[in-house]
Amino acid sequence: MNNGGSGNFLLVPIPEYPPPDAAASKTVKIAVLGASNVGKTALIVRFLTKRFIGDYEANTGALYSRKVTLDGEEVSLQIQDTPCVALQDDAEGLNCQEQINRSIYWADGYVLVFSIADQRSYRTVRPLYQHVRRIHPSGNIPVVLIGNKSDLLRARQVPADEGAHLASSLGGAYFEASARENHQSVRAAFLQLCHEVSRALGGANGEKRRGGLHLARPKSPNMQELKRRFRQVLSSKVKSAGAL
Ligand code: GTP
Ligand code: MG
Repeated sequence: MNNGGSGNFLLVPIPEYPPPDAAASKTVKIAVLGASNVGKTALIVRFLTKRFIGDYEANTGALYSRKVTLDGEEVSLQIQDTPCVALQDDAEGLNCQEQINRSIYWADGYVLVFSIADQRSYRTVRPLYQHVRRIHPSGNIPVVLIGNKSDLLRARQVPADEGAHLASSLGGAYFEASARENHQSVRAAFLQLCHEVSRALGGANGEKRRGGLHLARPKSPNMQELKRRFRQVLSSKVKSAGAL
C-alpha cells in the first residue's frame, strides 16, 4: 500500500506524545518481533484501532505512540513495529538487521509473533528470544508470545499446546489470536505485556488501582498517518465496489 512515500520510519525521531513535561510519568516501550508475513503490523493496527485493513506495507518500522491509562496510572505507551527477521539457512542463527537490534535495545518488553500456519515462523521464535537475551543479558525480560492467524484452522502447522509450551519456556504467556477476525485476544496479549512492563518499571504511583487500559485521544502523529491510510483503503474499496 502506498503510504505517501514516507518510506521506513524506524530511524526517524518520533515526537513524544504527550510532550515530556506533560503528566505521564512512565513510558512503556514495546517492540513487536517475528518472521516475515506473520501479522506483526496487522496485530499492532488491530490493537490500536480495533480494525483490520488486510493489506499492509511489508517491513515497515513505524513507531506508534499513545497516551494510556494502565491500572489507573497514566503512562505513555510506545509500540515499535519492526521489519521481519529470518532464520539463517543452517537454522542456527538469525539474520537480523541492525535496526531490529536497535529496537530490541530500545524496548522494555517484547511481543514475539509467529503464524500458526507457518512452522518456520514458529521455529524463529526461540532464536529470536535468545537474541533479545544477548542484547539484554541480565534481568527479567517481559515477553508475550502470539500465535497469529488462528482463523486459518485448516492450514494449522503449529498445535496450540506447542505454542503454550514454548511461551512458558520463555517465561511468558501464550495467546492465540487472529488479527483478521478478533480484537479480544490481541488486546489481551498487548495488555498483559503492558502491565508486566509497567510493573517492572515501577512507578511514581506506588499504590495499584483497578482498571483496564484505556486508549486515549487525541492521536499521536503516527495515528494520524494510520487514519489517513484507513481513509485511503476505504475510498479505494468504495471505488472498486462502484466499478462492479
Ligand atoms: P512483514 O512486515 O512483511 O514482516 O509482515 P508482518 O509480519 O507485518 O505481517 P502483516 O501484518 O503485513 O500481514 C501479512 C499478511 O497476513 C497480510 O496479507 C495480512 O492481511 C495477513 N494477516 C495478518 N493477520 C492475519 C490473521 O490473523 N489471519 C489471516 N488469515 N491473515 C492475516
Ligand atoms: Mg509489517
